[in-house]
Amino acid sequence: MIIVVGSGIAGLTAALSASRAGQSVTLISKASLLESNTRYAQGGIATVLPDLGGPPEDSVESHVADTHAAGAGLGDLDPVRILCTEGPDRVRELLGYGTAFDRRPGGDLARGLEAAHSHARILHAGGDATGAAIAYSLACAVRESDVTVLEHTFLADLVTDDGRIQGIEVMSEDGVLRQIDCTTVILATGGAGQLYAHTTNPAVATGDGLAAAWRAGAVIADAEFYQFHPTSLAAPGNFLISEAVRGEGGVLLDNDGHRFMASVHPDAELAPRDVVARGIADAMRTHDGAPVRLDATALGDSAYLARRFPSIDAACRVHGLDWAHEPIPVTPAAHYWMGGVRTDAWGRTSLPGLYAVGEVACTGVHGANRLASNSLLEGLVYADRAARAIDRCPSDWPTFPTDVRIDDSAPADVTPFDRAELQHQLWDHAGLVRDHDGLQIADKQLRSWRADRTTIAGREDENLRQAGLCILAGALARQESRGAHYRADRPSTSGRFAHHINLERAC
Ligand code: SIN
Repeated sequence: MIIVVGSGIAGLTAALSASRAGQSVTLISKASLLESNTRYAQGGIATVLPDLGGPPEDSVESHVADTHAAGAGLGDLDPVRILCTEGPDRVRELLGYGTAFDRRPGGDLARGLEAAHSHARILHAGGDATGAAIAYSLACAVRESDVTVLEHTFLADLVTDDGRIQGIEVMSEDGVLRQIDCTTVILATGGAGQLYAHTTNPAVATGDGLAAAWRAGAVIADAEFYQFHPTSLAAPGNFLISEAVRGEGGVLLDNDGHRFMASVHPDAELAPRDVVARGIADAMRTHDGAPVRLDATALGDSAYLARRFPSIDAACRVHGLDWAHEPIPVTPAAHYWMGGVRTDAWGRTSLPGLYAVGEVACTGVHGANRLASNSLLEGLVYADRAARAIDRCPSDWPTFPTDVRIDDSAPADVTPFDRAELQHQLWDHAGLVRDHDGLQIADKQLRSWRADRTTIAGREDENLRQAGLCILAGALARQESRGAHYRADRPSTSGRFAHHINLERAC
């Protein structure tokens, strides 16, 4: 039996592909089948499909070049090529599962433009509800398949014997632990946005899969690269304001009403995400922390905005904002973790029997900075590859050299964990701008905490603490600035660090 953990685009796809290949599959989800980061994805999914109305000048090679350039010298070309080459067929399968991508009059698929893409190649659904449309169609297909679904079932730990997977330990909502035996686990547990005081991620994003893999001895890579989305609503909840709004002409204004991004980068609001996010942070700092404003008033009237961006429109209204007539306050927020459990191009981790796909994985596709709307695509492509690999290459399991070993032994003066304080430590010291001293402060604080692991909430806290330690270890080791990792004390990019930093738990 194969166990898939997680029910976003990667988990649902892995379960469907493995089941189609004749495997007996159990999918576990810690909330309901529909709750995941995928469900909140707005802008869309990037892919090149010229026969379905894509711009004739676009090509898979152009998508490869854009993805690789965004990675700031750290993206691995082979996995990037796989992503962009296999993506179109996987997206056709989504159409087969009934995902209703938006279409232009005449029937061709509609496409948006987002930052650092050379062409408009972002497919979207429900205007700005692409993730929800994909999640619904895949979840329906899973319900109609032979996959066994266990909801409200929390991954407590991976069970290993003699260095390979023998099962998982799960916790039910009443705190009872039990073991499920299996020799193959596909982790698809998503990211850990709850590490940060401001995040676009839902409450379930607590790094459970990454922390479990780390405890079991798997290699983690690129942990220092956390992507901050430039534009979330500067209001409680940090509702995502899709990059597609800037793609259609939305501009950023500082507190004096000045369009500041034009002087930061030649591509202004459509510069790479890390550049825009830091540009906003600088503008906020110059104006005593006042949020910048996103002006979408030139995009169209109220009816157009409500039709093209219904979720954002509703969120603005909830907060009493009329974005057809006035610029809205926005701020960067933690959005996507490029780092994760290190895998090869088949999703295989360093732990025999364990695969990782989607945001929890580090395939090397994103490098130091993910290109917008490549995350749903990566979940699709690599989940399918992992499912196909299971019977194909069992013997030559990959190994990855370790650069840093993290010793997490408890100090004498352990104190109880404080989630809000963790989020502020990470936001202040391992956020958009870092330096050695701040990283050390946060590292010392995280090492002094332990959470109570007798409840699911306590285990989520402990997972966040361990995931945070991985980010801090990577950020301390990477003594340069590159992509999403900016060190004020090491502002240049250095050839010495043009490689992934692999972390492992010290036993
Ligand atoms: C967005 O809609 O801006 C998010 C897309 C992404 O993160 O890829």
